[in-house]
Amino acid sequence: MGDALRGFIHDLRRFYAERALDGPAMFATVAEELATVLEGPVGSPSPDPLPVAGLLERLETDGEPDSLLTRFLDLAPHLPWTQTRAYLDTLPPTFVRNYGYVRLVGPAEGAVLRSDRVAVGVGVWGAGLHYPRHAHPAEEAYHVLAGNVGFRGADGTRVELVPVPPGYSPGEFAHNAPDEPHELWFGGRSGVPEPDPDLDPPCVLLWAWTGEIGVDARLV
Ligand SMILES: [Fe+2]
Repeated sequence: MGDALRGFIHDLRRFYAERALDGPAMFATVAEELATVLEGPVGSPSPDPLPVAGLLERLETDGEPDSLLTRFLDLAPHLPWTQTRAYLDTLPPTFVRNYGYVRLVGPAEGAVLRSDRVAVGVGVWGAGLHYPRHAHPAEEAYHVLAGNVGFRGADGTRVELVPVPPGYSPGEFAHNAPDEPHELWFGGRSGVPEPDPDLDPPCVLLWAWTGEIGVDARLV
C-alpha cells in the first residue's frame, strides 16, 4: 500500500511538472513540494472510507493501467476520506451523502502526508450535484479525472471541463486565484436527461491548493 501511494504521488509530481511549462506558476510549486514529500517516508494510512467512496464502483477505468484515474481507483478503499465540516450542516443531505474527498498532502491532521506549502487531493461528487458558489484564500487548480464537470469562476462564464486524457498529455483545468468565488456542476451534459446520483457514475476531480492552505472553503 505504501508503495502504491508513493507511486501515485510520484505520478502526480510528474503530472504537475509537465504542466508547469504552460500552466499557472502554482503547478511548479506543487511539483516541487511533491518531490520534497517523496524524500520522506510514505507509510500506509489508516483506511476510513465514506459512503461516497462506494460510488467509485460504478466507474469503469479508462483502460490505462498507469493513468491517474486507474491508480486512484485502486487506492481509494485504503485511504482516509473526509468532508468540509461546515458543509455538513449547510448543504442538502443529497450533497453530503454523495460527496467527499481525500487529502493526500496537506497541513491538516487528516492529510496522508504533511505539507505546509501545498495541499493536493482527489474529490468525488455524485452525478447531478451542484457545488454552490464558494471561495477560499488558497489559490487552486482542478483537473477532471472522470465525468463531465461544469465550472463557473470569477469571470462568470460557465465552461465545460473534460477529463484529462489517459497518459500525460495536457488536459483542461480550472484555476482560481485566492478568494475568487467559483461553483461546479457534476455529471451534466447537454441533451442528456437529469443525472441521478443514485444511478449514474460520479465525477472525480484532482485538486491542488497553494498559498494560504490552512483555511477551509466557505460558501459565498
Ligand atoms: Fe475550490
